[in-house]
Amino acid sequence: ATPTIGRYDAESGLRIGARALVAHLDLGEGGLRDAAARLDEAVGLAEAIQLDVAHAEVVRVRERRPATLLGTGQVERLAGLAAEAGAGVVVIDGALSPIQQRNLETALKAKVIDRTGLILEIFGERASTREGALQVELAHLTYQSGRLVRSWTHLERQRGGFGFLGGPGETQIEADRRLIRDRIARLTRELDEAKRTRGLHRKRRQEAPFPVMALVGYTNAGKSTLFNALSGAGVFVSSQMFATLDPTVRVVELPSNRRIVLSDTVGFIRDLPPGLIAAFRATLEEVQEASLILHVTDISNPQHEEQDAEVEKVLRELGVADRPRLHVLNKIDRLAPEQLAALQHNGKVLVSALAGTGLDALLARIDRELHTDPPVRLELNLPVADGRTLALLHDRGRVLRTEVRDARLWVEAEIPASLARRLQAAHPAAS
Ligand code: GTP
Repeated sequence: ATPTIGRYDAESGLRIGARALVAHLDLGEGGLRDAAARLDEAVGLAEAIQLDVAHAEVVRVRERRPATLLGTGQVERLAGLAAEAGAGVVVIDGALSPIQQRNLETALKAKVIDRTGLILEIFGERASTREGALQVELAHLTYQSGRLVRSWTHLERQRGGFGFLGGPGETQIEADRRLIRDRIARLTRELDEAKRTRGLHRKRRQEAPFPVMALVGYTNAGKSTLFNALSGAGVFVSSQMFATLDPTVRVVELPSNRRIVLSDTVGFIRDLPPGLIAAFRATLEEVQEASLILHVTDISNPQHEEQDAEVEKVLRELGVADRPRLHVLNKIDRLAPEQLAALQHNGKVLVSALAGTGLDALLARIDRELHTDPPVRLELNLPVADGRTLALLHDRGRVLRTEVRDARLWVEAEIPASLARRLQAAHPAAS
């Protein structure tokens, strides 16, 4: 078969359908089941950047060889498999040094990306805010500057024609290194600028009248699907992991008519390469502001306990472990009836974001969690021309009755206590 590194799709900016092999490197640290689960995860990540995975396997590394990491026999076997499958890309789910990566590319006659490279590709394709994109590019360039090989999608796309495909000459590499250094310096400045702007955005959002709920969870838990189901908004949801890098925000109305800001965040993933942590954190700002954290778990995943532990760890690192939290168990449609019955007693929120099961109960539960600002009923006496206050009442609560009396507008409404206090101070005629 002819090797393929995919077709460049101008509309999505992706390389579609590059055929790939995925090898998870088992360094003998976990059990067999663990290695299999990690291989599945690596395949999911590869599919998230549209790779067409022809073959995937766990490769047991017994002795780390400096030149290729893998043993000679293993390299030969992978080369055979790559040729047979016509794979233009080999994903090595592990950490490769720049030299190992280059040697493997030569031996396998394919583009080789390691775990960091893979996650960077994903981040690069999903970053939607300016800051997210800058953080990702910075991480990418830093990763790249130590390597003689170049990325095969992200950077190529961003700086068309910059660099090389295949064997670069040394002069070219030097030139590239210098360009990369300059670019890193510029990006760092742009990033500072973007951070300042984000500060402004956040301030505006803090002034926004609704409490913020952040959806967090392990990659592929179903956050985007749930976000979509709850908000009824057409946000980008895909069957792939990392459908979201930068937080996406929607206003959602609760059964009480109160509204909340629902914020989707990037999926957590274990063993995130250290160089990617800043980029990942840049996307988790929303969690810091949340009054309630909705932790979504794919309860049908056999590894869900480990995944929960990973999420807990990140929440602790972010300093939000004490924040009010609601644990939402998703994908209950995939459970056997007896498994489901066993869960039904422990007060957890059970949903299927895909089937739409349990969403009303979840919204009602969020309502209850927000009791710190309970709705109160009040009557206000406003100038007839005060459309702004009337709009605010409609927006933040329920308007029960309006009446014009003595050239004044009398409004009875149910609104959050905090807003009621503010309005009563501004309109002392309120009863
Ligand atoms: P990241 O963006 O990687 O963090 O993923 P995510 O947590 O946002 O997951 P996403 O919503 O993209 O869903 C991942 C996959 O799970 C998709 O294929 C969804 O269709 C599927 N999925 C989500 N919710 C459910 C569910 O309730 N039941 C089933 N069976 N599948 C679901």
